[in-house]
Amino acid sequence: MGILRRMGEFTVTTTLLIVLIFVGISLARQKEQGKEISIGERFHKETSLTWRGVVGDLFREKPKQPPQYKVYAGATKIELPKPEYTGMTVEEAFKKRRSVRNYSTKPISKAQLSQLLFAAQGVTGKMYGKALRTAPSAGALYPFEIYIIVNNVQDLPRGIYHYSVLDHALELVKPGDFRGQITDAGLDQEMLGDAGVTFVLSAIFDRVRHKYGERGLRYVYMEAGHISQNIYLQAVSLGLGSVCAGAFLDEKVNQLIDVDGWKEAGVYLHAVGAL
Ligand SMILES: Cc1cc2nc3c(=O)[nH]c(=O)nc-3n(C[C@H](O)[C@H](O)[C@H](O)COP(=O)(O)O)c2cc1C
Repeated sequence: MGILRRMGEFTVTTTLLIVLIFVGISLARQKEQGKEISIGERFHKETSLTWRGVVGDLFREKPKQPPQYKVYAGATKIELPKPEYTGMTVEEAFKKRRSVRNYSTKPISKAQLSQLLFAAQGVTGKMYGKALRTAPSAGALYPFEIYIIVNNVQDLPRGIYHYSVLDHALELVKPGDFRGQITDAGLDQEMLGDAGVTFVLSAIFDRVRHKYGERGLRYVYMEAGHISQNIYLQAVSLGLGSVCAGAFLDEKVNQLIDVDGWKEAGVYLHAVGAL
């Protein structure tokens, strides 16, 4: 009898314990679900790859694929010298790379500008008729358009230009002095206006989203880093100083390069100047 009673007590205690654990877990889950999560946490969560996410994405509507190249028809075209510079080793450039925010008043030469643009997005090969570039790109979809704000480049009037990757040339978007506006857009970071040239890396998100869905947004930001690092290392090798900038007023930058900030937006700046 005693043994049976003790066995019964044991079963009741164990069952109670299990019930308590389940209640605890369920309460914790409810709390977690009800918790306000930040937009950044939500972005990370909703763009995380899970098997459920991959399957779900198959049924999610994707945007149409935008054209691969942006063309400024009728714009003044400026040819650039061939990017033929050979400088230091990549290991030397790693060692020397530092963010530089003070530049001399010496202009950057057109040959140096050509080399910097090539480092950012120059065409280096072809695959299935598609132009491959100096920086890697998820699915070789190349979401970036490169704009430059020319402040102090030899034989190149001040203005905003678009880099035409296929012919390694510049298209004039807007002539004029934009030093004040880019500094203002960059939260008064003076190097942006002092630089010989300030790059604006502008992303057309649907070039990646049409294939990779919302996950593709992460790829866009990763790619901006690749391009910027290429500019950093090329600048070092050319004996120039440079710094990237993620802190800027999005709307002002988008207005400068005439993009809507929705389908296409400036996501990273990079200033380069002579030392
Ligand atoms: C995503 C990102 C955003 C950055 N934004 C700015 C910026 O807005 N302004 C700036 O002066 N430097 C900016 N930097 C440069 C960092 O301040 C710099 O890399 C850091 O201080 C390390 O110094 P180093 O680049 O000389 O090694 C940024 C760097 C990264 C990676």
